[in-house]
Amino acid sequence: SQAASSLQQLCEPSSCSDGEYADIDWNNLGFGLTPTDYMYTMKCSKDENFKQGQVRRYGNIELSPSAGVLNYGQGLFEGIKAYRRENGRLFLFRPDQNAIRMQIGAERMCMISPSIEQFVHAVKETALANRRWIPPPGKGSLYIRPLLIGSGAILGLAPSPEYTFLIYASPVGNYFKEGTAPLNLYVEDEFHRASRGGAGGVKSITNYAPALKAQSKAQNGGFSDVLYLDAVNKRNIEEASSCNIFMVKDNVVSTPATAGTILEGITRRSIIDIARDLGYQVEERSIPVEELIDAEEVFCTGTAVGVAPVGSITYQGKRVEYEMGTQLVCGKLHSTFAGIQRGTVEDKRGWIVEI
Ligand code: COI
Repeated sequence: SQAASSLQQLCEPSSCSDGEYADIDWNNLGFGLTPTDYMYTMKCSKDENFKQGQVRRYGNIELSPSAGVLNYGQGLFEGIKAYRRENGRLFLFRPDQNAIRMQIGAERMCMISPSIEQFVHAVKETALANRRWIPPPGKGSLYIRPLLIGSGAILGLAPSPEYTFLIYASPVGNYFKEGTAPLNLYVEDEFHRASRGGAGGVKSITNYAPALKAQSKAQNGGFSDVLYLDAVNKRNIEEASSCNIFMVKDNVVSTPATAGTILEGITRRSIIDIARDLGYQVEERSIPVEELIDAEEVFCTGTAVGVAPVGSITYQGKRVEYEMGTQLVCGKLHSTFAGIQRGTVEDKRGWIVEI
């Protein structure tokens, strides 16, 4: 492939043909950063489109102190996982959807974005260059992090004169310290994540630092994460700080309609499709927190998080607990989703892309 041939020129024998796996403890991957060998960079000025990027050694980047991203937060990120199967082949899950989401986000943030082809090609090159960091089957995945940043210097508030598209990667295991154990969510009614007309619906870097305060409050109370309510009524559930949310009641699977304040998760969309394929009715609508409390099952979805069952929700000092078990709807959705990624369930929709 094109990716493989351009890599041959960049790989030094010492790093690329140095055995199939990097020398790390594959049994204890969490979601910390393990620096890998290579990253991808591509630049363009505000009056052109991205042309040609390159894979280069992983390392620090140089930025002007007045770069748009540093001063005014003009930046977007994505998350994609690469998996290794038992037969050694390497796969990505729906990278085109990340490319499309970055384009939509770039439009919202007045940035230039790579084409879908450029984005997917760059993700493949990055994964391939770092293939010795893709965990053995069943041990985790290579989390690939594309960034689009306003890298040009500005002083007054304006779109940056230059953009940098950058991708790095790190092997990861479970996102939460709970591992695969059910999550305990804290419903936050003081802080909000996003409001109508804001940028909550796109993967802007500016959506994440403001969530740290509520997240640390929840973690200090022993919770896994925060569940946000809508900023207008303080009543309808929105999302957690790192993932989307679903509930199940009477065999109906429901999730909040995104409506500009909730991130359009790719795992969220995939789970909606899988649930319908399995014969469940799926609703995207407003969900008052009281309804969530009354649900039979609750679970979270996200690239980093996967499909994670929620064991309890705490709202205004009251804790409710939910059913658990692989026979439940969440378990079925999770095993179908993971099976498509692993290749044990048929990929009817062409979601899996070989690297
Ligand atoms: C992801 O799930 O890929 C995300 O971007 C969430 C992030 C907070 C890790």
